[in-house]
Amino acid sequence: MVKPSVLVTRRWPAAVEAQLAENYNAVLNTGDKPMSPAEIRDALNHYDAVLPTVTDTLNAEALDVPAAQTKILANYGVGYSHICEPSARELGMTVTNTPDVLSECTADLAMTLLLMVARRAGEGERELRAGNWSGWRPTHLVGTKVSGKTLGIIGFGRIGQEMARRAHHGFGMNIVVQNRSRVSPEVLQQCNATQVDSVDELLPQCDFVSLHCPGGAANRHLINSRRLDLMKPGAFLINTARGEVIDEFALIQALMFDVIGGAALDVFDGEPRISPDLLQCDNLVMLPHLGSATREAREAMGFRVLDNLGDFFAGRPPRDRVI
Ligand code: DGY
Repeated sequence: MVKPSVLVTRRWPAAVEAQLAENYNAVLNTGDKPMSPAEIRDALNHYDAVLPTVTDTLNAEALDVPAAQTKILANYGVGYSHICEPSARELGMTVTNTPDVLSECTADLAMTLLLMVARRAGEGERELRAGNWSGWRPTHLVGTKVSGKTLGIIGFGRIGQEMARRAHHGFGMNIVVQNRSRVSPEVLQQCNATQVDSVDELLPQCDFVSLHCPGGAANRHLINSRRLDLMKPGAFLINTARGEVIDEFALIQALMFDVIGGAALDVFDGEPRISPDLLQCDNLVMLPHLGSATREAREAMGFRVLDNLGDFFAGRPPRDRVI
């Protein structure tokens, strides 16, 4: 039997690539160079499956392939706002993602960012590496206590819930949640969390706000200047979701004029391009999209793609079908 042809758009963990090569007629991106929309379109015309990830733009232009050979986009990653949903539907393409296996590691990183910005860890490391540390003193880089404070979580899916667990059970934080749908009382109870009806209601109550909602058009600039004004002065904003959820221009103003205490970002609008003004903000911690970047999570994400492909080509519904 001829093995289905599969194109992988970026380098993946070696163990997963080896398995892909065994199960499929797989073309791997050994150079790890991001593909252009034209290259993606070409791939869609020639492979049974394309395995994209967050750095690929599968917009309407890239998916303008009326006679596509590809019938499944098995995405490596949980977020899929880089894939144009109406176009994929019109082409009858199945789209899958990789939930669950990265939730703990992404929440670990959100907690890392929260602690770093509250305790001024980024500033401290920059000072030390620059050779500017003059020694201990009572007023040096004084930060904000985390334990016992109130954390607002916007988007209470798997990652948001993992974040709540860490913050509540590890740091005694009070948890306030905003989510598109009602969260069951049992799930809220696990962290003694309270659900509010809107983002506007959540923001003024919280010392920390962590974003865990999907990206895409629906949530573009969900955090804008009006909502930054609703945050407590001195509160901190953490984003491990998607860059477009925050209006970066508004955030820069809020950081520069001390409207909020600080921010910590793992994702950026238009990444990997970073606005030069963000680099000027001392009360900002930035990481290069490391949410799921552990050996364990990245391998598990790859094997989850293999499960989805296996189901699809065996004629079974893939467990992580999102479109
Ligand atoms: C995801 O899975 O959407 C992550 O952002 C990738 O790290």
